[in-house]
Amino acid sequence: MLRSNIPDFFEPKLEQYLKKGRKYQEFSTKINPKTINSNFIFISVGTPLDNQNGMKLDFVKCVVNSISKNLKNLTTKPSIILKSSVIPGTAVNIIKPILEKNDNKEGIHYEILSNPEFLREGSAINDTIHPHVIVIGGINSTSRKKLLNFYKTIYPKNQKFIETNNTTAEMIKYANNAFLATKISFINSLANICQNIPGTNIDHVAEVMGLDPRISKLFLKAGPGYGGSCFPKDIQALISFSKSLGYKPELLEAVRDTNKKQVSTIVSILKKNFKSLSGKKIGILGLAFKENTDDIRESVSIRLIENLLKKKCKIFVHDPKAIRNTKRIFNKKLEYCDRLEDVFSSSDCGILMTPWEEYKKINPNLIKKLHSKIFIDTRRILKISDKEISFISLGIGV
Ligand code: UGA
Repeated sequence: MLRSNIPDFFEPKLEQYLKKGRKYQEFSTKINPKTINSNFIFISVGTPLDNQNGMKLDFVKCVVNSISKNLKNLTTKPSIILKSSVIPGTAVNIIKPILEKNDNKEGIHYEILSNPEFLREGSAINDTIHPHVIVIGGINSTSRKKLLNFYKTIYPKNQKFIETNNTTAEMIKYANNAFLATKISFINSLANICQNIPGTNIDHVAEVMGLDPRISKLFLKAGPGYGGSCFPKDIQALISFSKSLGYKPELLEAVRDTNKKQVSTIVSILKKNFKSLSGKKIGILGLAFKENTDDIRESVSIRLIENLLKKKCKIFVHDPKAIRNTKRIFNKKLEYCDRLEDVFSSSDCGILMTPWEEYKKINPNLIKKLHSKIFIDTRRILKISDKEISFISLGIGV
């Protein structure tokens, strides 16, 4: 698919950029002296959780093993650059020994650099072109400078670069994700409080908090909890790693647990409005873990659906991009609607989970099609005041 410039997942602008770069790129399924005789080898494979909730390094190790076997046959003395998120110490304690196994010597046959990635799904291209910082971790300054100078040829003059050692670079990545997740769990906790105080509005609270330059307004959007293939996994991996060092990171555990419980806030709103959920028809708008992606990994919508199926609800779903992936999990257990209207006319109650742009157009007339006229906006993207419907914005006490 890549050879035909077709990505196998949805990411805005990606196909366009694959096409744009077609003259300069080659794809291969093999690691051999021909395919990797390069100045820079970027490793960007996944690092999911293993069965013990630690980081699974199998894919990284597999790639590094193949590179290691080939190093002596390369003419380039490559910089091997780890972009995958890995727990601190991975480059030095795990990757380096694999590379040295075949009598390769750092500085003679290769260099190893840690260069964490900060892009977000849904805005990956833009984040790649305009990173807020580029972190280059490595043990010696000559090898760091080699990558730095390369990056300087493609980024503007004012691009911010930070040089540090490998392990600190790896920790910076986890620190960023852990802090952003902390902000989300924090604002979700406040939203749950606001939910119970008439007259309060979490968005106004967040907006004013964000004016304080020490806080910043970003990542203070309350909602159903964070999902995706990064925050849940990285927070858990950091907790497990920290415990393995003998320190129990209670704050991070609270961030994780608050996030896991957030879905129950939505279920309790449903329970308040319906005597029994059994047999109720629930429409879910948005399956992807965030807008502008078809990724449903660790999506809160998916957890909500699992929860509601256990309560014997009938579920109608809509998503502009993520239906294909959702079918792989639930198959015939759900009703998949291509048209937004069909979710409303088939369901008792609607729940907006993912803030897709097109959902901003939902109006009272559409909501009135719901049999019970109850609609829950977990992201507060709609501004609706209509007495004929029961419109509930998560985090707004009414
Ligand atoms: C996250 C980080 O933001 C990136 O910097 C990092 O590179 C990436 O993980 C990674 O480690 O690879 P991503 O998971 O793609 O990026 O997307 P985010 O925009 O961070 O959203 C994550 C989740 O948090 C989504 O479910 C989103 O809806 C939720 N979120 C985000 C909120 O609930 N409130 C907010 O204010 C922001």
